[in-house]
Amino acid sequence: MGKRILRTPLCDMLGIEYPILSAGMGPTLIGENTGAPVELVVAVSEAGGMGVLGGAGFNIDELRDAIREIKKLTGKPFGVDLLLPKNIVDLPEKTDAGPQEIPLSQALEFIPQEHKDWLKKIKLEMGIPDVDIMVQMNTTTMRPNQAVEVCMEEKVPLFCAGLGNPGFMVDQAHAQGMKVLGVTGNSKNAKRMADSNVDIIVAQGHEGGGHTGRIGTMALLPMAIDAAAPKPVLAAGGIGDGRGIAAALAMGCTGVWMGTRFLATNEGGALDINKQKIIESTDEGTRVSRAYTGKTLRANYNQFHELWDSSGLDPVPFPMQILVSSALIAGFIEANKFDYVGGLAGQVSGLIKEIKPAAQLLDELVEETVEILSRKLPETVITK
Ligand SMILES: Cc1cc2nc3c(=O)[nH]c(=O)nc-3n(C[C@H](O)[C@H](O)[C@H](O)COP(=O)(O)O)c2cc1C
Repeated sequence: MGKRILRTPLCDMLGIEYPILSAGMGPTLIGENTGAPVELVVAVSEAGGMGVLGGAGFNIDELRDAIREIKKLTGKPFGVDLLLPKNIVDLPEKTDAGPQEIPLSQALEFIPQEHKDWLKKIKLEMGIPDVDIMVQMNTTTMRPNQAVEVCMEEKVPLFCAGLGNPGFMVDQAHAQGMKVLGVTGNSKNAKRMADSNVDIIVAQGHEGGGHTGRIGTMALLPMAIDAAAPKPVLAAGGIGDGRGIAAALAMGCTGVWMGTRFLATNEGGALDINKQKIIESTDEGTRVSRAYTGKTLRANYNQFHELWDSSGLDPVPFPMQILVSSALIAGFIEANKFDYVGGLAGQVSGLIKEIKPAAQLLDELVEETVEILSRKLPETVITK
């Protein structure tokens, strides 16, 4: 059989063969520093899609090294995804800011007393050990300006902002020959990004893994497309196979941005236990909570969700809540209480039954999408 063709204008814009991007995914759980590592990016880009590095949990040097490693391993275009929170001021350079990594016990000094008291109480009641992991104080998320600068210097083909409007950097990026993508969960921000000349807008529905908004993908896509026009929109949230891709294209998207499905591949960066949880998940196997980062975030359902709910506490604002959740989750892992541990994942987990190589997955996605669009639909839908 000849090679399948599945092209949209996005392919010409980005210089790729198929309009399928593996989403930028940062840390999926404590102990991992990215869900979308170099290996996944290279595999997807080499196979004709576009791999996007999840740079949110890296420090600045790791980010630069990972970008250079990708360039060594593939000549194909790729993306880099960062979070650009509004309310973080870049920390001063190394020595002024103190160590780049500090023990969690020390970092916890920055959280409110009532949260500290709650952690202490739970640890005591549940017999959870204190695990003093090291906490990065200079991740790209804590130093967004420096991280953006690295992407500029390295001229990454596609800069992606998973949080925040990257409009401020579009002119500079274009001057470097780069394209800029922004992720949003509502049509208001889709319009805002389009107005600030962001090249590509990802509209991610409530179904999606990781940080997520309130609007379902099916409702969001047409509204985001209208709001962002004429800028191209990619669909995200709940897409796991060719049916989802065909539906997104039918709605007017120029491509898709898929997270959870690519996380559950050989090259995906999740711990094996989290890949296993995705495989075992049903359609009801995930939940949204602010317990992890302070922002609404979808993860595998687990008992940490209820434990947090029962605290009656407000989460500490993003990203400091991560210290609170990390303190407990590190202890749960140490104590083998895996019922209280779940990685970030989307509702589409229920559709995923097998871990496979990313290149094979991409081939199958293309094959199924083409089959639906070229044969199944015309055979089953009568239009005249
Ligand atoms: C494990 C995991 C980590 C994620 N981390 C990030 C991130 O760091 N930055 C970002 O823009 N989006 C992140 N996301 C969201 C994805 O980029 C993507 O929008 C989402 O996974 C799409 O929905 P899906 O999971 O249903 O495919 C993450 C998602 C997952 C599952």
